[in-house]
Amino acid sequence: MFDFSKGANHLPLLSQYVAEACCIHLGEEKRYLFEMRLGTIIGESGAKDIPDFIRLAKSDLTGKLRDKIIDAMTTHETYWFRDTNPWTALEEELLPQLAAEVRAGKKPRIRILCAACSSGQEPYSIALLLHKLSSSGNLSGLDPSSFEIIGIDISPGTLFLASTGRYSQLEIARGLPDFWRDAYFDSTPGNTWTLREPVRRLVSFKRRNLQDSLASLGVFDLLLCRNVAIYFKDDFKKDLFTRLSDIILPGGHMLLGGTESLFTHQNVFKLTRIKNAIFYKRL
Ligand SMILES: C[S@@+](CC[C@H](N)C(=O)[O-])C[C@H]1O[C@@H](n2cnc3c(N)ncnc32)[C@H](O)[C@@H]1O
Repeated sequence: MFDFSKGANHLPLLSQYVAEACCIHLGEEKRYLFEMRLGTIIGESGAKDIPDFIRLAKSDLTGKLRDKIIDAMTTHETYWFRDTNPWTALEEELLPQLAAEVRAGKKPRIRILCAACSSGQEPYSIALLLHKLSSSGNLSGLDPSSFEIIGIDISPGTLFLASTGRYSQLEIARGLPDFWRDAYFDSTPGNTWTLREPVRRLVSFKRRNLQDSLASLGVFDLLLCRNVAIYFKDDFKKDLFTRLSDIILPGGHMLLGGTESLFTHQNVFKLTRIKNAIFYKRL
C-alpha cells in the first residue's frame, strides 16, 4: 500500500493523469479517493513515488496499468431500472411507439445506445422491457431482436462484468423485482444470477472513451447518457452533448440521469415530457 503522506505532494500530477485518461477531474479535496482507490495499485507496481508510477503507466505499452487506473478511478454505481419514471415512459410509450414505426415500415430496426453503461444493468433493463413487451403482445408483433442495444464504457473491468450478464445476489436485489429475476435469470454457482441468453444477446458492449469520436457507432433512435456527465467539466460536457446530438436521429430521444438536466443545446434538443419523465427530443 503506497503511503501518500510521505515525501513531496505529487497528487496534482496523479490528478492530471486521471483527467487526461478519462476526463474526470478530481482535485486535492478528493485525496481520500486517490488513497483508497490507487494506494494498493501504486504499492504493487513497485513505483518509488507518484512521478515514477505515472512514468510506469505511460511506458507500459500493454496499457494494462493505465486500464487498472481507469477501472479504479471511475465510479460504477448503477442498478436495475434506476429512477422509476423513465422506465414507465419507455415501457408504456416510447418502446411500443418505436416498434410501431418498424411495423409500419418507417424504419428497418431500432438502435439504442447506453453511453457509460457500467456493469450493464441499464442496457439490460431495456432488453428486459423489450422481452416483457413482446411476450405481452405490446411490441407490434415484433421480435425484440428488431432492437439493437449497444452499451459503451471506458472501464474494461466493468465492461467484462457487463458482458457476462452475471450478477451477485446483492447486485440482483438492487432495483430488480423478483418477477424479473425469476422470469429471465438462471441461478448460477457462487450465489450468482445469470441473465438468459435471449435477453443478453440484444445487448453488445464496446469500449469507448467519451472523449473520443463516437461517429463510428452509427446513429441511434434513443440514447441514454446517465449519471456520468456529472463528473465532467462544463466545457467538456458541452462538447460531449454536441457529439451525442450528432449521433441521434432527428425525432430520436436522449435520456439523462434523474438529477441531471441540459441547459445548453436548445437548438438541437426539445425538452419533452413522456409520462412523468423528461426526455430530450432531437430536432
Ligand atoms: C455512475 S456510472 C453510471 C452507470 C449508468 N449509466 C447508470 O446511470 O446507472 C458512470 C460510468 O461512466 C463511466 N465513465 C466515466 N468516464 C468515462 C469516459 N470518459 N468515457 C466513457 N465512460 C466513462 C464509468 O466507467 C462508469 O461505469
